[in-house]
Amino acid sequence: MLVNMDESRPLEEDSSVVQLDVRIPVYDTVTFQKTGHKARTLSPEEAEKLAKDQVLVSDFKQLKLEKEAQKNWDLFYKRNHTNFFKDRHWTTREFEELKACREFEYQKLTILEAGCGVGNCLFPLLEEDLNIFAYACDFSPRAVEYVKRNPLYDAQRCKAFQCDLTKEDLLENVPPGSVDVVLLIFVLSAVHPEKMHLVLSNIYKVLKPGKCVLFRDYGLYDHAMLRFKSANKLGENFYVRQDGTRAYFFTDDFLARLFLSVGYEQVINEYVLRETVNKKEGLCVPRVFLQSKFRKPPREA
Ligand SMILES: C[S@@+](CC[C@H](N)C(=O)[O-])C[C@H]1O[C@@H](n2cnc3c(N)ncnc32)[C@H](O)[C@@H]1O
Repeated sequence: MLVNMDESRPLEEDSSVVQLDVRIPVYDTVTFQKTGHKARTLSPEEAEKLAKDQVLVSDFKQLKLEKEAQKNWDLFYKRNHTNFFKDRHWTTREFEELKACREFEYQKLTILEAGCGVGNCLFPLLEEDLNIFAYACDFSPRAVEYVKRNPLYDAQRCKAFQCDLTKEDLLENVPPGSVDVVLLIFVLSAVHPEKMHLVLSNIYKVLKPGKCVLFRDYGLYDHAMLRFKSANKLGENFYVRQDGTRAYFFTDDFLARLFLSVGYEQVINEYVLRETVNKKEGLCVPRVFLQSKFRKPPREA
């Protein structure tokens, strides 16, 4: 059995995902977790490996990957259907903001899940909190179709639509300044670093003043980063998987600069360092995520 590369989430051995190179055996015990501003320290062997990986994928191939980003994710969902990512029930637990941002108990919240995939985050949320209306978008038409076909999809409570967040205006589907919370979960890492600000500006327009983007994604020196082969390096902290999808590994500084450049204010921006151990195999794997909250400034009085 394997887990996928985003989280310690089990994935059944499945021939349809054999092409993915960054897969990690199941680690069943989280032995250690801490949050903070300090990035993970590399072992001397890990530092040496990263220092050696200096050759980048050719410009020609990089352009092709950028042009085909949408196609590659769509093919990913064609191969894996809805089976790859496990439902993310941690969303409300870890982002208490979702509840805390209500000004009164029964306030209806409007959320946007940007880059929703097949709804692993969306549907648990809609089930857990009946007082939510959710917009959900992704640039993979197949992923959006899976969301719409999910038995829990209810057009009264949810609107799923296709959108390339780097190109297409969210205002075509979401009214300006209407969203209380935006979820950006393992999505920005899939976008070219030079286009990430476009995603954040796009989201900015639909957020209500004073409301937040909740962000979770790969952090610098996550185990998945160290497993990439040198031939898969696209740039600093940026890699390509065998299926053509890409992954960027964030530092807290990089992320803060990105959000602040678009006009957001920082509320929280922390590494989550986690060690998971499989006692049977005697393997210990360091996972690193960045979990953050950035706010659109409140309207001036
Ligand atoms: C790792 S998946 C995460 C999916 C979902 N957020 C979750 O937590 O299960 C990354 C998603 O980002 C989407 N994505 C990548 N680039 C995008 C873009 N430019 N516009 C919209 N969606 C994008 C992909 O199609 C994919 O569904």
